[in-house]
Amino acid sequence: MEVLKQKLKTISGGRILDVGTGTGKFIPIITEGFKDYTQIIGIDNDERALQTAQEQYGQENIQFIKMDAENITFPNESFDTVCISNTLHHLGNVNRTLQETKRVMKSHGYFLLNEIICDTHKQAQLTHIFYHHLVSDIDTLIGIRHNKTFKRQEIINSVRNTGIEITDMIEYVENKDTVKNMDELDTVALALDNQIEKLKGLPEYETFKQRGEHFKRRLYDTGILRATQLIIMGRK
Ligand SMILES: C[S@@+](CC[C@H](N)C(=O)[O-])C[C@H]1O[C@@H](n2cnc3c(N)ncnc32)[C@H](O)[C@@H]1O
Repeated sequence: MEVLKQKLKTISGGRILDVGTGTGKFIPIITEGFKDYTQIIGIDNDERALQTAQEQYGQENIQFIKMDAENITFPNESFDTVCISNTLHHLGNVNRTLQETKRVMKSHGYFLLNEIICDTHKQAQLTHIFYHHLVSDIDTLIGIRHNKTFKRQEIINSVRNTGIEITDMIEYVENKDTVKNMDELDTVALALDNQIEKLKGLPEYETFKQRGEHFKRRLYDTGILRATQLIIMGRK
């Protein structure tokens, strides 16, 4: 994410809210990217993820709070910056959440969104998207909200609909070679098998095993590479 860090390094983040912070994977981008900040609050509705985030990144001015992103309990205009990373496709109501993020941003505050997109991809990246969509179908069957990834334009439209002004957009592709090494591909295949095993006992189990085999043929054929991330920077 070097390209993003370059963009952030002139910006003082002030009081920052990280929406859908999960285990805190986006926190280092915030702490290393922004020129400076006074406080970071990460919110998520998954208590276990928050506990991991707290253990790894918690400190006096970095706190994690259980909160629904669709009903943020902070007052209007209480953050200088709001970040939301790889969370849109996990939400029940994207528009409501984006409206909530805008509500808690100060006037002229900074908005930073980072989200996987399912279009404009190399074949190996499409393999990652297919993996993702298989896992989202599995999660959905077992009651975990996990939608398919969005197209670039869908995300842009959702942000524009909030009235947040988009000031910059980056399509970020990891600077890595396609994974074709057998050991690494075996690891991906095994991870998928473990996901499919969650369906054991359900009527859909056999269908997903077949989908899994179909996916693996593609995996060993094309290799895999992380999908493109759309990064949107904006101002309220
Ligand atoms: C894939 S994780 C993203 C974690 C981190 N931001 C990152 O960039 O890796 C998506 C997170 O969104 C959270 N989430 C989904 N719906 C939510 C909601 N309504 N309120 C709060 N968090 C939510 C999930 O619990 C999950 O931790």
